[in-house]
Amino acid sequence: MTGTEGAPALLEARGLRKTYRTGAAEVVAVDGLSFALRPGGALGIVGESGSGKTTTARMLIGLEHPDEGEILVQGQRLARSVRGRAARLARAKAVQIVFQDPYLSLDARIGIGATLEGVLRLHGSHDRTARARRVAELLGQVGLGAREAAALPRHLSGGQRQRAAIARALAVDPAVLVLDEAVSALDVSVQAQVLNLLSDIRRDTGIGLVFVSHDLAVVRYVCDEALVMYRGRTMEHRPVGDLLAAPRHPYTRLLLASVPHPGWNPDSISRRRRELDPLA
Ligand SMILES: Nc1ncnc2c1ncn2[C@@H]1O[C@H](COP(=O)(O)OP(=O)(O)OP(=O)(O)O)[C@@H](O)[C@H]1O
Ligand SMILES: [Mg+2]
Repeated sequence: MTGTEGAPALLEARGLRKTYRTGAAEVVAVDGLSFALRPGGALGIVGESGSGKTTTARMLIGLEHPDEGEILVQGQRLARSVRGRAARLARAKAVQIVFQDPYLSLDARIGIGATLEGVLRLHGSHDRTARARRVAELLGQVGLGAREAAALPRHLSGGQRQRAAIARALAVDPAVLVLDEAVSALDVSVQAQVLNLLSDIRRDTGIGLVFVSHDLAVVRYVCDEALVMYRGRTMEHRPVGDLLAAPRHPYTRLLLASVPHPGWNPDSISRRRRELDPLA
């Protein structure tokens, strides 16, 4: 369990399983996934491409339904469908997601500032001046200025769009924020700024973070626990420092060995990766 001890879980996954069928083929994208996130907790989910990370993220916000298992948000079971405006707003306030592709969460027809304004209004901020102040604050937090605020998403750089999507998610003031490779495309200085912002918000508000990333250095910086997925299964789930210092599972060791370092040998990584497959 990650976060403040004793408090009820913000987000809990119990025995999640998700299978996809394409034609005759079936793939188990997620198998037996369980974790609990306490207020202020940050869980990193790592694993190679296709290991089930995005499927997990999509289930956590109700975009995808598990075949087995359940998800509880602040003790309430995540309903399969949300009907009505009040329920939709409540769902949005419970869990927000920032995807790898920020176009998915931005409105192509309006500027970023107007998008943020609209989100605040939708969530009950009725005072125009207060909204304008909050929009400026959110933009400032992700390092965007007045020019970017007025620009349409397609006129921004990829990194600017990504930051706009993060600001949009934060505007809702959610209990849990899920980030699916959301900082991976940012350059190092902007990435550091966004990671610091997330740490500050976490400390100040008790927001819970689920942080999907292939970058173990970033996971170490942001998260207190890490969960390693391989072909949908959880290989290990431990405090991030322990996991990085003394990985137990061969797959975790391989993930760590895959980070380029002096004396690094990509060929031996590929060989070790092939040897692991019988584990699947
Ligand atoms: N809509 C879908 N239909 C069929 N198969 C899918 C679907 N979405 C995902 N999958 C399969 O489920 C598995 C897990 O995919 P997922 O997108 O969760 O991986 P991931 O860990 O996010 O990978 P990446 O690091 O490349 O983003 C993969 O084998 C993928 O091909
Ligand atoms: Mg993914």
